[in-house]
Amino acid sequence: MKQLKLVSTVLMVALLLVLSACGTSKSTSGTKTTGGDTEKKTLRVVTDAAYAPFEYQDKGEVVGFDIDFINAVAKEAGYKIKVEHVGWDPIFVELDKKIADIGISSITINDERKQSYDFSVPYFLSTNKILVPKDSDIKSAADLKNNKTIAVQNATTGQEAVEGLLGKNSDKIKKFENNNLAILELKGGGADAVVADNTVIEEYVKNNPKDNFVVIEDSAAFAKEFYGLMFPKGSKIKADFDKAVKAVIDNGTYAEVYKKWFKVEPDTQILKDQQ
Ligand code: ARG
Repeated sequence: MKQLKLVSTVLMVALLLVLSACGTSKSTSGTKTTGGDTEKKTLRVVTDAAYAPFEYQDKGEVVGFDIDFINAVAKEAGYKIKVEHVGWDPIFVELDKKIADIGISSITINDERKQSYDFSVPYFLSTNKILVPKDSDIKSAADLKNNKTIAVQNATTGQEAVEGLLGKNSDKIKKFENNNLAILELKGGGADAVVADNTVIEEYVKNNPKDNFVVIEDSAAFAKEFYGLMFPKGSKIKADFDKAVKAVIDNGTYAEVYKKWFKVEPDTQILKDQQ
């Protein structure tokens, strides 16, 4: 009897050892299993923090709507994240090399990018608009073709939209590494207009009344765009983040973050319609 008990105890211990070994060997795709509790590795999130109010630097810290949003989403998904400003082009490079796990930077979901990256469900509606001095004779997108010089951030949908009007190789399009430099060019008189995401140039006008700039809308010329989180192609965390984006939109967290930055209620239906 005693011996039987000993044998069964030995068997139990062996079984436990096998089970716990199974647990630790499952540590692929961002999940580390340590002694039973699942602990996820800290994800590297990259951004171009020169695009207020979505992502910008304040006293050396990266802040903005996107930053609050990704923090809420990561929390919902159960991941720790570290957001780092790397610049616009490096976001794409780092995701290509899989050095980064997520890009968040007011990134428009489009077919061209979808060939190389995965996107979350949409989290923000945007469109390009035109920033000009108050006394400008530019009143619509078509006016940009009247021998005007236009400043854009390189490799953005703003650049693409202007190329659609002026031609891909037009020397009238000045491309900058970030959008703040494009606006500086306009300020200095080196360009007649900037084309960029509406919220960003509207925020600029609001914060810089002395510049005497206005924003021109042309919804016939510039399409509706949606921002998404961008992942390396085949990312294993995308599904978790899709679920979490939907959850924060549904549970009111999205609206809280939105109201903090934009002072109005978001239209979440337009986002849900895209899911
Ligand atoms: N939405 C535009 C695009 O995806 C511009 C985004 C620029 N973002 C930034 N943080 N500079 O091309």
